[in-house]
Amino acid sequence: MDAKKTIFSAPGKIILFGEHSVVYGHPAIVTAINLRTKCIVTESLQNEIQLSISSDYSLNGPSAGLKREYTMNKEQNEFIAQYSNYEQPVNPAYYFITERVLHLSASKKYPHIHIDSEIPPGIGLGSSAANSVASLASLSAFMELELSMEKLNELAFEAERIIHGRPSGVDNTISTYGGIQFYKEKKFSQLNIPNLSSYVVIVNSGIPRNTKTYVEKVAKLLEEDTTKYQKILEEIGKLTTIAKSNLMEGNIQKIGDLMTQNQLLLEKLGVGHPILTELTNSLVQLGSLGSKLTGAGGGGCVIGLFDDYQKANRAVEEMKNKGFQAFISSLAERGVQVEQ
Ligand code: PMV
Repeated sequence: MDAKKTIFSAPGKIILFGEHSVVYGHPAIVTAINLRTKCIVTESLQNEIQLSISSDYSLNGPSAGLKREYTMNKEQNEFIAQYSNYEQPVNPAYYFITERVLHLSASKKYPHIHIDSEIPPGIGLGSSAANSVASLASLSAFMELELSMEKLNELAFEAERIIHGRPSGVDNTISTYGGIQFYKEKKFSQLNIPNLSSYVVIVNSGIPRNTKTYVEKVAKLLEEDTTKYQKILEEIGKLTTIAKSNLMEGNIQKIGDLMTQNQLLLEKLGVGHPILTELTNSLVQLGSLGSKLTGAGGGGCVIGLFDDYQKANRAVEEMKNKGFQAFISSLAERGVQVEQ
């Protein structure tokens, strides 16, 4: 690759099965989706380390058209805004990533790092991990530093820890390696699935959610009624294991059923929301084989599995007509990759 310009992209994710129960040692199944972050690194024209971020969350979401420009300030250990039409401060993970790659590299070049993401932040689609993985890959290639996939994933996990405190590592792993990952007790295995004609429709409910709040809610419920809630978590765990073999056999109908069952269990667990239930029901009416919330719950996104592209596309249009942000993705999208 021409090291005057490096471009890498990395995917977001959805949890197909096992959110919350995974916190208690049960398995989870996660897939990479086709919403990606692209990171373009070029030589800075100003002999300064620069970072710019533009976001166009594909579907005219409220964050479309945001632009931010920063320069790195090593004394203050942060990127300082030169221009920003976005009120959120810059993610400190970018400083960590840039500092670490520059430290490991022998090259003395000044990079300009540009982030361009299609993944809406804060709705459980793994945007921060995708940003970290794409920028680590692109920046290290620009700085002529050869990072193994393992090292890249490890650094992305460190970046995730800066942002989220105690993440499971699912988001950075799926963004690095892509595909579908089965995760249990800190171990990941890639699921080899047959070439399925299957599509996931992802709908953003627009209801804000917070992973920490809902993880704590489940912990509290477990304390109050251990038998009841442990049983629900175990059932989700069993169902996730059944989903694993069905995915590998390509039983798409059964996977849909299991998703709907998982949704009912998540509702029993207290992480549902009437709007999420309404959206899952609408997706089923629109021809989905099964539907559930994805991620922490209480808001955020729901997903519906389809075996027919036209139907999935119609569902996306229908959801958009109702004012929701909606996307269509295949399962098992590619992990981090070089772009032309
Ligand atoms: O909504 P997300 O992507 O933050 O997923 C949360 C998944 C949980 O199982 C609820 C928490 C976790 O750390 O696994």
